[in-house]
Amino acid sequence: MEKTTLRCPALWMRPLAEQDIAPILKYASAPEIAANTFVPHPYPPAAAHEFVRKVADEWQSEQAYTFAIIEAQSGCFAGCMGIHLAREHKRAEVGYWIGLPYWGRGLATQALRLVIQFGFEQLGLNRIAAGHFADNPASGRVMQKANMRYEGTRRAYHYHRDSFKDSVWYAILREEYEKLQGLPHPPKHQGERSQRK
Ligand SMILES: CC(C)(COP(=O)(O)OP(=O)(O)OC[C@H]1O[C@@H](n2cnc3c(N)ncnc32)[C@H](O)[C@@H]1OP(=O)(O)O)[C@@H](O)C(=O)NCCC(=O)NCCS
Repeated sequence: MEKTTLRCPALWMRPLAEQDIAPILKYASAPEIAANTFVPHPYPPAAAHEFVRKVADEWQSEQAYTFAIIEAQSGCFAGCMGIHLAREHKRAEVGYWIGLPYWGRGLATQALRLVIQFGFEQLGLNRIAAGHFADNPASGRVMQKANMRYEGTRRAYHYHRDSFKDSVWYAILREEYEKLQGLPHPPKHQGERSQRK
């Protein structure tokens, strides 16, 4: 996949790059980010550099595509979002965080919508999912606003900073995305039809 930029009026998203190391260090160090993600805390100074290197390798090997989210109004780095592929199943999972000063401006929601569009229209996926800790309802709201559907809660799914956390899952399927776009459905093949009878 070529390096690509995703755009909407409020933001653009481009592949994470070395220039993002300083703002990542600044924002990822906040306890509010660590509380709801697997970002290390305290955030080691070398971690941002290592993260940018890792996501460049993942992009190259087409395992995952991680974008910097740039707020259009300021032109500043506001957070990041990655889509991680399981190609054999034509599915992916999305993860993200937004720097504290940019919370509540709709950026995560609009970025997630762009990444969902990217996943279905450019990567040809069939399913895109995301999960959040049960005590982080703001992230669940982002998933709802991006038209993902609640699928269930895995109890004590993650061991996170000395406690077990329930994980709440949302997803959107290609056919649901296409319906939202007003796109016609390809007809089901015979086998699928007969199985549903
Ligand atoms: C969760 C997070 C990504 C949201 O980013 P954001 O850009 O502020 O999100 P948006 O502005 O697009 O939407 C946030 C929504 O959550 C709602 N919200 C905020 N706090 C909430 C709470 N405690 N309970 C329920 N909803 C809440 C907001 O009101 C808004 O919904 P609305 O537009 O219907 O009012 C951001 O807070 C963050 O990075 N948190 C820490 C890391 C994290 O949680 N990453 C996701 C891991 S799954």
